[in-house]
Amino acid sequence: MSKKETFVLEKKLNHVAFIMDGNGRWAKLRGLPRYLGHKEAFKRLREIFEACREFHVQVMSFYAFSTENWNRPQDEIDHLMDYLEEYFAKEIDYFDSVGVKIQISGDINRLRPTSRQACIDACERTKNNTAIIANICLNYGGRDDIVRAAKAIAEEYADKKVALEDINEAYFADHLYTKGLPDVDLMIRTSGEQRLSNYLLWQNAYAEFVFTPVKWPDFNRKAFIDCLKEFQGRNRRYGGLKNE
Ligand code: IPE
Ligand code: IPE
Ligand code: MG
Repeated sequence: MSKKETFVLEKKLNHVAFIMDGNGRWAKLRGLPRYLGHKEAFKRLREIFEACREFHVQVMSFYAFSTENWNRPQDEIDHLMDYLEEYFAKEIDYFDSVGVKIQISGDINRLRPTSRQACIDACERTKNNTAIIANICLNYGGRDDIVRAAKAIAEEYADKKVALEDINEAYFADHLYTKGLPDVDLMIRTSGEQRLSNYLLWQNAYAEFVFTPVKWPDFNRKAFIDCLKEFQGRNRRYGGLKNE
């Protein structure tokens, strides 16, 4: 067995957000149907959860299904939802044993009833866990997130529950799916694509972006550490002149 690489992350990493991309291409390269790439993808999560715990991450976000992914063939969507349901059922004891709290960002009402229930059950069962949060972005779109927040605030304003001068960035953030979570520090997209694809648009405002050619079904602790090394070398200035 190869020796586990030691790596010390010196930068604070509160929130890491993953775009788990490349499943279909991973499968195609092996002459397999695309959906088997999604099946493989779920198997990678535990190793990444463990690494995040090791590096004292507070929140991990995973882009599992976008508001645009409904444009895919129904058969692929059905397989993905099957795997999601199986995954929650199979891993629930693990989540509890290490203190993972599952939360969902996105409108689960559009999911089929069994998938919706699997999400509700996983959130309910893990709601008191405190070690680390896994924020699963499911039927999630950054623009949808922002429009929903704007509508909710408009209603509060119309009902005279909030004054115009009290609507600020913090107030707005409290109306997003990610209410209470810290902003994203590091956004990792696998598979070589270099775009956001409508992911956590507000929350990624000052995130560092790392793009790796590794496809998600091959993404492991070693590939993650390579991303962390790149993050460690970045100088986060937030518009100022600070050298960390
Ligand atoms: C990402 O992998 C998973 C989802 C979008 C659900 P893809 O299915 O997009 O894989 P590629 O990008 O086609 O290889
Ligand atoms: C983004 O990947 C969505 C998820 C990983 C869930 P896509 O594969 O759907 O994004 P595009 O179409 O390449 O932008
Ligand atoms: Mg893709």
